[in-house]
Amino acid sequence: MLGIDSRGAAVGRGNLRNNIAYTGTLTSNMAGTSSAYNSWDLGVTLSDSQFQSVSTTGWDAPRRADGSLPTLPHLRLAATSTLIDKGVDVGLPYTGRAPDLGAFEQPGDTPPGQRHEAETAPAVCQGTIDTNWAGFSGSGFCNGDNATGAHAQFTANASTAGTATLGIRFANGAGGARAANLVVNGSTVAAVSFESTGAWSTWVTKTVTVPLTAGSNTIRVDPTTTAGLPNIDYLDVNA
Ligand code: GCU
Ligand code: CA
Repeated sequence: MLGIDSRGAAVGRGNLRNNIAYTGTLTSNMAGTSSAYNSWDLGVTLSDSQFQSVSTTGWDAPRRADGSLPTLPHLRLAATSTLIDKGVDVGLPYTGRAPDLGAFEQPGDTPPGQRHEAETAPAVCQGTIDTNWAGFSGSGFCNGDNATGAHAQFTANASTAGTATLGIRFANGAGGARAANLVVNGSTVAAVSFESTGAWSTWVTKTVTVPLTAGSNTIRVDPTTTAGLPNIDYLDVNA
């Protein structure tokens, strides 16, 4: 990595950690640079299948409303990628044993566009949006009516058809589990039991795998008993 010294001359500089170099010339101008825990240092085998996508489709999409770049699967690590947890702690947040190589942590760093708060339209809550139990994200949570079918519903976009891992964050301060069906685009795809979390302010995330179609999907958490749903905070879609 080249920098400029005080006399204006090019000079090797910098610390490189947790990076990926893939295809083409992997490194150049490395004299004077501290390099460790990068894909080229670790000798890991790189292939397209390490990534969710290596396609540049969508790079020219508009920025998001807050000015950030569009959320794309490009160069995000696949769930089975051997680049996960291969990095070294450099003081930035990470999940798992160690940081992943590359720009995106996996799993656990859900792209912002894929977290769906239960209180935010187009989400539907057949009950009330409450704030009385601490620890929720966003501006509230869905307290479904205690009735069969009093559901929370989310609308999520998937870039391609396929299996998605959903994370449903909930709290259940009642003694027993609460049962629900997961209904995707009108079809029941799974039965979910939301066990007691011990307190209404104790939130946990339940993971379920469901099929999604390309484009818009409705994902409904539909209680199957008169106890209704647990309180529902949000739905994460790691599609
Ligand atoms: C309590 C609690 C609610 C919860 C409800 C329930 O009233 O305060 O947040 O939704 O129990 O049993 O569903
Ligand atoms: Ca309730």
